[in-house]
Amino acid sequence: MRTVTVELGDRRYPIHIAAGLLASAADHLAPLARGRTMAIVTDENVRPHADTLQAVLAAAGVRSEAIVLPPGEKTKSWEHLAGLCDRLLDLGVERGDHVVALGGGVIGDLVGFACAILKRGCHFVQIPTTLLAQVDSSVGGKTAINTRAGKNLIGAFHQPSLVLIDPSLLDTLPLREVRAGYAEVVKYGLIDDPAFFEWCEANGAALLAGDPAARDHAIAHAVAAKARIVAADEHETNGTRALLNLGHTFGHALEAEAGFSQKLIHGEGVAAGCSLAFAFSAAQGIGSGQDAGRVAAHFRSVGLPDGLAAAGIAASGATLVDHMRHDKKMAAGTLPFLLARGIGRTYLDKSVDLADVAAFLDAQPR
Ligand code: GLY
Repeated sequence: MRTVTVELGDRRYPIHIAAGLLASAADHLAPLARGRTMAIVTDENVRPHADTLQAVLAAAGVRSEAIVLPPGEKTKSWEHLAGLCDRLLDLGVERGDHVVALGGGVIGDLVGFACAILKRGCHFVQIPTTLLAQVDSSVGGKTAINTRAGKNLIGAFHQPSLVLIDPSLLDTLPLREVRAGYAEVVKYGLIDDPAFFEWCEANGAALLAGDPAARDHAIAHAVAAKARIVAADEHETNGTRALLNLGHTFGHALEAEAGFSQKLIHGEGVAAGCSLAFAFSAAQGIGSGQDAGRVAAHFRSVGLPDGLAAAGIAASGATLVDHMRHDKKMAAGTLPFLLARGIGRTYLDKSVDLADVAAFLDAQPR
């Protein structure tokens, strides 16, 4: 088992990573249960993993109660938040209790937020079941729901007490979901780790084909990077954590244009968005066309979209920039962009002119 610690002073917490970890989860959860009933929140898609967890807890003498929600982004809503809080209150969850979030990013974000506000804050444990959640959303304490006005606009920073990552849970995840999570893995190389991007170029295909050694290495490496960044800038105030948004501003505009639907799922938006961020940097003379080409080629080679055409987006630059204007990172009329001087040399640029972005997008092949 590998363990990475998120160093946040008295709120520091471990992330344990091991294939098969779900089967021994009781070793980590039983001490937190304090003889009380543990609530496990999950969705219908991963119900079998919840059944496994309940069985291993029962074998260790821990009572548990599963709350099973519908899968999908629509579950990150006011209605489901209210329903979940009521269920947790009915179960008598106390501040000292640990609620388990077993699922992908939707479950992690919803349960994390419910635990941030339940009795002004109770503990929670993340057991992520998608690659995207394992390498990104389960670590770092960003929790949120979506509202009429947009995604993740209501939420809180609330760190989990423990994260248990079992890469073997990905064996049953659809390939499209694994690929989408892989985009976030590549992102860590693009941000500040060129050697890891090279590793991705050499091993990405094997990882997606299910090679456990490649998968476990990538997860551990990505989690260590995320833990470092979160420890340096927990609340995204000094620019360090903002680097994790690489590809997200372009990607978010594409996802919005696709109606946040199955047409373009988040990780696919991130792959296209990273490709566009590098291409825009090259077009502005900040980075090289060669690096932008390498980034696009890698995403293409593993079946991820590398731009507008591959993402199936035909909208004009003006329309896409209009989506960007609703980004929650807008500050005093300016939208900060993650641009790149090269692979592994990403920085936050607050002087990007949205008219240049629109013209660049208009020039992209459709
Ligand atoms: N997913 C971006 C962050 O956690 O900051």
